[in-house]
Amino acid sequence: MRAASTKIIPIRWDDRKKEVVWLDNSQIPWKESYYSTKSIARLCRAIKSLQIRGAPILGEAGAYGIALAACNSPDSRDSILRNARSQGAVISSARPTAVNLSWGVNKIISALQSAHDSGASATEMKSIAVFEAKRLQRDNISATIKIGENGKRLINDGDVLMTVCNAGTLACDGIGTSTAPIRAAWAEGRRFKVLVTYTAPLYQGARLTAWELHKDGIPLSVITDNAAGHLIREEKVTAVWAGADRILSDGTVYNKIGTYALGILMDYHGGKLYVAAPTSTIDPRSRSSEVRIEQRDQEEVRRILGKVEVVPKGVSAMNPAFDRTPPELVSAIITELGVARTPYNKSIKRMLSMAGSMAASP
Ligand code: MRU
Repeated sequence: MRAASTKIIPIRWDDRKKEVVWLDNSQIPWKESYYSTKSIARLCRAIKSLQIRGAPILGEAGAYGIALAACNSPDSRDSILRNARSQGAVISSARPTAVNLSWGVNKIISALQSAHDSGASATEMKSIAVFEAKRLQRDNISATIKIGENGKRLINDGDVLMTVCNAGTLACDGIGTSTAPIRAAWAEGRRFKVLVTYTAPLYQGARLTAWELHKDGIPLSVITDNAAGHLIREEKVTAVWAGADRILSDGTVYNKIGTYALGILMDYHGGKLYVAAPTSTIDPRSRSSEVRIEQRDQEEVRRILGKVEVVPKGVSAMNPAFDRTPPELVSAIITELGVARTPYNKSIKRMLSMAGSMAASP
């Protein structure tokens, strides 16, 4: 039996060179290329072009971005803090929907502020930024393992599962978020099949989720996005497993474009939409009207993967990267702290207070 583990390292800190290293998601499955940089501008370009992508990995990239900003600063306590703040604003705006990006940035800025307030030297502040960013990555990885443990009991022998986008290791580190229960249930010997949706226009499902699950030996078929309705009915799909870029306190889920339609389909056909995400994806402050849905370049729709132009010249396209799924379509939200169900304003509040008391305990 294969273990629920994977050897992909999507992002890391290079201690010797003091730089960030990442696996370029845009070249998978053709090529496994790693890039590294000390430059915040280059890091932001990698985020915007989806070389680095997926909500939890964006949190790690944000944290390492602040570590870079600190290490690149002159040896002055105030400049480190000033640089971290100004570069933090730049990094956070690289992609607007995934709340984890600004969460990762703010975590390390707060650590720097506390170090500054308690009189740490400039050298100590730089080490603290790197240490805390690495700790955030370790916590992210262990959250994925716990999501797997909490979610695996929702998967039974003979199930037919469907995925959207990629919320695997490449996007979340560890064993992924929506892939974590799938991997954990498979490792325990349960047998099922997975339908992986293409996720046009950038094919994160076909390229990335299929690549990851295939490496694990989990049987899957890739399907076009427009085959989802037909196959949900004909193959009797039991559950769609999705990740999330942002979850509001009432259980509203922002995730890859197409998740909302899958939620409606599952509701109509009596199946489940499960959303797996770490508690760092929960945004208790924003209201729906305040969340910006990223609109990406229309060329991504007009030209398949930047090559074949499939839309007539002069015809425009729309390219929202994410959509909003209302809480009544979400069967459960699986985090590292447990399984939240409706009414979400109560279950999510409970989860967040648990997360708060865990963070406060030594
Ligand atoms: O545009 P992407 O590839 O960054 O979108 C990623 C997703 O929508 C994921 O499902 C989401 O971030 C949840 S977990 C990685």
